[in-house]
Amino acid sequence: MSYDRSVSASDRELAPETIWHIDMPEIRFGRDATDELAFQLRDLGVEGAATGLVITDDGVADAGHADRVVAHLEAAGLDIDIYADSEREPSIGAIEDCLSFVRDQTDDGYDFYVGLGGGSCMDTAKATRAIIANGGSPLDYVAEPTGDGQTLTESGPPLVLLPTTAGTGAEISPVAILSVPEKEIKEAISSNHVRADAAVLDPTLTTTLPPDLTARTAMDALGHAIEGYTTHEYDSLLRASDPGERPVYAGRTQLTEMFSEKAIRLLSGSVRTAVHNGDDLDAREDMLLGALFGAISGLTAGASLCHAMAYPVGNKYHTFHGETIAVLTPASTIDYNSASDPARFAEVAEIFGVDTTGLTDREAADALKRAYIQLQRDLGVLPSGLSELAGITEDDVDWLAQQTVDTQERLLRCNPRPVTSDDVAAVFRDALHNWEE
Ligand SMILES: [Fe+2]
Repeated sequence: MSYDRSVSASDRELAPETIWHIDMPEIRFGRDATDELAFQLRDLGVEGAATGLVITDDGVADAGHADRVVAHLEAAGLDIDIYADSEREPSIGAIEDCLSFVRDQTDDGYDFYVGLGGGSCMDTAKATRAIIANGGSPLDYVAEPTGDGQTLTESGPPLVLLPTTAGTGAEISPVAILSVPEKEIKEAISSNHVRADAAVLDPTLTTTLPPDLTARTAMDALGHAIEGYTTHEYDSLLRASDPGERPVYAGRTQLTEMFSEKAIRLLSGSVRTAVHNGDDLDAREDMLLGALFGAISGLTAGASLCHAMAYPVGNKYHTFHGETIAVLTPASTIDYNSASDPARFAEVAEIFGVDTTGLTDREAADALKRAYIQLQRDLGVLPSGLSELAGITEDDVDWLAQQTVDTQERLLRCNPRPVTSDDVAAVFRDALHNWEE
């Protein structure tokens, strides 16, 4: 008997994914890489006496970083305007303010853009460049039902991002996160046209970051790395019928795994020094590299349950993203998810520096949770749980769980273990107190 081995179109659509790809900005990394920003811009096609906009915030400007960047660019013959009013966790209105600034100053936008600061400044720069190039307003490009769900078709002139924190991964990600205050939700403009053309990562820009911000952003980065390492594999999804329709969070690959592993080592190994001795440039370099590697993994393979739970908390209580990730990780990423694959978490434990000799996989995963909480306690600036973070109690848990399930499908779909709203409520309950204050 012979078999027909040809595969019909419909069979192909139901077959497992066999292909992955990765999109990245150009990356320039190292001490005083800021001094190569003008070269980077020229390399991206910025010619002659072009005029650019540096988008930053007052804290970054006060630290002297904006002056350093502007002096460097002007010395290279470029004209620079500065917008230093970026908001923390920018709202739609904050992006509109930056757009108005650009439209008041120019006929059809600047010749190039530079985003300098934490994730909020970088996201403001990404959204501004994209909307100036495509026209309209932020909500035109936010997904329905909050926005119109229009598609960006243009990237616009060159955009280079310089992070002054080590954590968010905004320098490489294809999203700009925006809050919609009247709905108490966060939305995103998500497209490869939002992604920067280049990221210049200079650890000397991060030494002014105070201990609390250093700790928060580090825990966000560690979250990206661990969630990226433990999310589902890319070939557990169905094959995309069109290469352009592969999801942004497409599952883990050997490449993302490699970056996660290195990120976990760098971040867990150096965060104590970076927090307690911020001038230690070796530790700062490890943190910036670890955050970049964590983002390359977590923001392509996909963040999961912990990030899904963090958004409703941040929207309702206006907590810092990294701090929220820190308090939720033990109960969500480690406890809940490890039940589905203890061996995977035993590997994370080992990478994290836990001595797993003689331990079963389950015991190693539990030891990882203890080591992670000990790390948080050692940093001395992080809350002990959701209770201390924002006064969250048992009474708030069901609402938060329902919000997570209702609004975070994009991230929950990436979770390696299925979740119901009851499961999420139990995880929120577990995260109220990670240790006794
Ligand atoms: Fe994050």
